[in-house]
Amino acid sequence: MSVGASDPVRCTVCRLHRGRTQVVLPDGPAGGLLAIGEAPGQQEDATGIGFVGRAGRTLDAVLERLGVARQAYARTNVVRCRPPDNRKPRADEVLACRPWLEGAVRDLRPRVILAVGQSAAAQVMSVQWGAGYLDLVEEVISASRPLPSYQGVPVVPMPHTSPLAWNRRRPDGTPIRELGVAAAARAVAELIGDTPLPLR
Ligand code: URA
Repeated sequence: MSVGASDPVRCTVCRLHRGRTQVVLPDGPAGGLLAIGEAPGQQEDATGIGFVGRAGRTLDAVLERLGVARQAYARTNVVRCRPPDNRKPRADEVLACRPWLEGAVRDLRPRVILAVGQSAAAQVMSVQWGAGYLDLVEEVISASRPLPSYQGVPVVPMPHTSPLAWNRRRPDGTPIRELGVAAAARAVAELIGDTPLPLR
C-alpha cells in the first residue's frame, strides 16, 4: 500500500479523496450487526458520520422497528469518501478501499452483516446474480437455506435504502420496502440467534 493508505483519515489512494470533505469512518459497537452501505452521501460527507442522510435514517427506522436502535448496530461503507454528484463508486475506487472494508469487518467482529444494496453485496457475497438483485435478496433470505458468509460472518443482502425511502416498487408492484424489512428482519433473527442453520 502507498503512504496515503496507511492513515485512515488521510487516505489518498484513489481519486475520491480530492472531492471529499472528510473520510467517513465505521462507527457503532463491535460484536453485533454491521450494516455495509455503498458510499457516503452529501450529509455523511459533511458530518463524517455514516448513514445520517435520508437513506440512512430509513435504515435506522427499519431496524428500530425490529428492536435494534442506532446505538446498537455498526455501520460502514464500501468506499469511505463521497463520490462526486453521488455517482456509483468505480471499480478501481472500490478496490482501493477494499482493505479498509476488510479491516472493518475484522475489527468489528460482527455477528451478522447486513449488505445494504447491490454494491455492498457484491463485496461480501461470492454468488453471482444474473436474474436481478432483488430476486437474489428474496432467495437468500428465505428461511429454508443457510446464509452466505464473509470472513466467517453470515451475510444478509437487502435492497438499498434509497428505493425504500422513495417508496419505489418492484416490477410486480410490491413495494421494495417490504423486501427490505423482510431482509432486515432476517439479519436481526441471525443477530439474536433465532436461526440455527449452518453457514454455507
Ligand atoms: N448513507 C451511507 O453512509 N451509505 C449508504 O449507502 C447510504 C446512506
